[in-house]
Amino acid sequence: MEIFSLYFLLLIFSIFLYFYFLFIHSKSSKNTKNGFRIYPLLGTLPDFLRNRHRFLEWTTGVLAGCHSNTSTFLRPGKVHGVITASPQIVEHMLKTNFENYPKGLRFRTLLEDFLGRGIFNTDGEFWKIQRKTASYEFNTKSLRNFALENVTMELQTRLIPILENAAKNERILDFQDILERFAFDNICKVAFNVDPGCLIGDATSGGEFMQAFEDAATLSSGRFMYAFPGLYKIKKFLNLGSEKKLQNSIATVHEFADKIIRSRMEERAEKTYEDLLSRFIGNGENSPEFLRDIVISFILAGRDTTSSALSWFFWLLSSRSDIEENILMELEIIRRKNRKAIGDTYNFDELREMNYLQAAISEAMRLYPPVPVDTKACKEDDILPDGTFIGKDWFISYNTYAMGRMENIWEKDCCEYKPERWLENGICKQESPFKFPVFHAGPRQCLGKDMAYIQMKSVAASILERFGIDVLLEKGKCPEHLLSLTLRMKGGLPVKVKERIV
Ligand code: HEM
Repeated sequence: MEIFSLYFLLLIFSIFLYFYFLFIHSKSSKNTKNGFRIYPLLGTLPDFLRNRHRFLEWTTGVLAGCHSNTSTFLRPGKVHGVITASPQIVEHMLKTNFENYPKGLRFRTLLEDFLGRGIFNTDGEFWKIQRKTASYEFNTKSLRNFALENVTMELQTRLIPILENAAKNERILDFQDILERFAFDNICKVAFNVDPGCLIGDATSGGEFMQAFEDAATLSSGRFMYAFPGLYKIKKFLNLGSEKKLQNSIATVHEFADKIIRSRMEERAEKTYEDLLSRFIGNGENSPEFLRDIVISFILAGRDTTSSALSWFFWLLSSRSDIEENILMELEIIRRKNRKAIGDTYNFDELREMNYLQAAISEAMRLYPPVPVDTKACKEDDILPDGTFIGKDWFISYNTYAMGRMENIWEKDCCEYKPERWLENGICKQESPFKFPVFHAGPRQCLGKDMAYIQMKSVAASILERFGIDVLLEKGKCPEHLLSLTLRMKGGLPVKVKERIV
């Protein structure tokens, strides 16, 4: 009898789900030609499970085939949303109707253990306070100068000697790891005036923290990929598997950040620093936990983004010697004009003159955006510019990776690596941030964009003019992605470096 009632209940529940999904589907499918396939009861879940290991390629394929490059996505557990690769919709969600598309509860909850209430994981007042304080600091000339000084120091005293040594000993390097270490030392110095020295000596120190940070980012983003959204909570409660590993990694990251905060708070009375953390420590109103969240968000912002962009840039260049030649030619012209020799450091004006290099880096990010997908929540029912319905509490993701591969945005040759598409009379043009939302857009646009270009151009120019980079991966085969909060290469980027003969 009991079994019979259980089956009966299940049947009623299934019929309810069936009509529920049909209703939602009919509401949203009006404008969606060949979008994500929606199965009775299970929504997009079967295809999601089949494709989640290749989420970017799968969603790119689907969005390319549907009207306005936008489709509705439904998963059991009330995970309903819209995924888009449309510049008009990106503009609508990030700017025109910004207030209706915060990060939202789901996003914040999934990342809260790792990011707490840091700038990447907050809305409302908490976000506004951090944005205002950080914006002020990012706009100062002193920070800009400090950033360039640090990049130059890290290049001259750490990165270049490591490459010279590897070239002499014919040592294989994981270039992605080296670039992450570079970016990590750099962001810690600029944001907190702390030097973790990850690139000192043979570039193996700080390994435990680096690994923990990487694991925390990857496992936290993995929570978005569960077949059943609440499953991670059970694993967390029972301290099992990936959740156990995540909690251990977070503990290591917290320990590192706490150490920075403690030492800086102790020094507060004696010294005054001009870095970002000092502004937040300010009058002592922020708790140590909040300061820790701020520290972690800035490490994430500064470490994983520029290193991801440069790793893909060097990989792309490895099969395009024509583009590498063009970059070298541009650098030679700039050196000659400014009476500089190879190995001299470049100043702001000289970096600004590197239009072709800027185009080559932007083009690499168009195809391999460091933040490939970005997600917000919908506060109130809305109709998107193409007519697609989006309901209250649904998620909305814009897929930057897919946008770089849309013919209607970047023409027929969109999948080709072609820096020239950025150049107008030799000057690298600014693209609309809605068509190229690699740095986000609207009120939450990336604060570190200029700093990131300074860093990436300095690193790329200094390395390329002195070394040839031989990538030790199968020619023509794209490295597998590791979809974390940022786009990384699974297994790293193994290279051999050779000093150029000049
Ligand atoms: C290639 C390099 C970079 C890329 C592609 C990039 C991209 C992004 C993206 C997509 C966001 C929006 C994330 C979100 O809230 O959903 C963002 C926000 C942000 N970025 Fe960057 N970023 C880069 C480098 C940096 C650097 C070097 C810094 C600073 C040290 C930085 C600081 C920030 C901050 C503070 C925010 C938060 C803005 C806010 O929520 O108001 N970024 N960035």
